[in-house]
Amino acid sequence: MRRTLIKNIGCLQTPTGSYSHKGSKQGANEKYMDACVAIEDSKISEITEDGKVPDGDFDEVIDAGGNLVTPGLVDGHTHLVFGGYRQHEIAMKLAGAGYLDILRAGGGILDTVRKTRDASEEELYEKSRAFLDEMLSFGVTSCEAKSGYGLDPENEIKMLNVIGQLDQKHVMDVAATFMGAHAIPPEYEGKGDEYIEMMCNELMPQVREQGLAEFCDIFCEDSVFNAAQSRRYLEKARELGFSLKIHADEIEAIGGSQLAGELGAVSAEHLIAIEEDGMDAMAEGGTTAMLLPATSFYLDKTYAPARTMIEKGIPVAIASDFNPGSCPSLNLQFAINLGSLKYRMTPEEVLTAVTINPACAIGRGDLAGTVEPGKQADLVIWDAPDFEMVCYRFGSNLAKHVIKKGVLVK
Ligand code: NIG
Ligand code: FE
Repeated sequence: MRRTLIKNIGCLQTPTGSYSHKGSKQGANEKYMDACVAIEDSKISEITEDGKVPDGDFDEVIDAGGNLVTPGLVDGHTHLVFGGYRQHEIAMKLAGAGYLDILRAGGGILDTVRKTRDASEEELYEKSRAFLDEMLSFGVTSCEAKSGYGLDPENEIKMLNVIGQLDQKHVMDVAATFMGAHAIPPEYEGKGDEYIEMMCNELMPQVREQGLAEFCDIFCEDSVFNAAQSRRYLEKARELGFSLKIHADEIEAIGGSQLAGELGAVSAEHLIAIEEDGMDAMAEGGTTAMLLPATSFYLDKTYAPARTMIEKGIPVAIASDFNPGSCPSLNLQFAINLGSLKYRMTPEEVLTAVTINPACAIGRGDLAGTVEPGKQADLVIWDAPDFEMVCYRFGSNLAKHVIKKGVLVK
């Protein structure tokens, strides 16, 4: 057995437990001052505080230099795998086009679909592997990744294979989500119902059989998939044994958040335009709000009503939404800054929103998201004395060292 000690931790701040935190629990963090963490192989074995050091010999000693240590961050919503980029959309936006205008004109997601279909599995793998390296350098140690730029059986499976390979070969834990219903591909233009039937009858069962994804997601939005189509797709997914996710109320509230709550979706994403009844349904259904503030920033929209959600007892998670269109940034620390500034969440609430809550929403709550004996040793040593500093400084990377499954990877 290999024993590692992290010593000289000024403050170890972490939520606790293997479940998602809501209401007043959203901001419940433990703080151990002058602490040490002992690691045995890939797992945390002991935490000490007040200057006490765990007994025994260690193969490796990491000095935290009196800094803050937290759990490794969990990015619960990314579109990590994609061909090309979409920087040319800047000119379209400057000319006045909105996000959905670009999509309706055959660009946006559909532009990335063309580029992703053209890319080989190897090309996509190499590109997204480099993104995972960059995410890790920002302190992210687990993430979710969606398909949804293939939009036909061959290319959706190609994307899911890439995600599976990344999970196997990269130190990052990567949870796979099938998002065949991300847009209507050109071959099905004007035939959204038929496309959904093809997904439900052909592709979704195949994805399930081959064990390529744990979650199913759909873009429920004006001009994309309506609430009835979303219901059909998600009910089929549930029947096949997938856990459910839904892009809901991003631009228009067309019933996505109500559906999420009613079907017991594990999370609903975006929720910028959510209304009262949608929040009530989510609270009732135990659905986590996966909020994506960097997308609000990049689309120049308003921000989801995180404080009302917390008051209503909805567990709140904050993710990057990294994708080539609405959020070309994988910097989860920037989302942390916006969570604090725009959602008006406390540093403790924000920490829960980027650790245990998303860990639970991607099915990793028993492994990751907190620093506790028995959990995976996924930790960040920050160039900061407290998490307030991480919420406050923006534009710099404050993750000084990153430890993944007991190994110093940065
Ligand atoms: O979550 N809104 C839908 N899907 C992504 C954007 C995808 C894209 O523009 O390529 C999102 O923002
Ligand atoms: Fe998304």
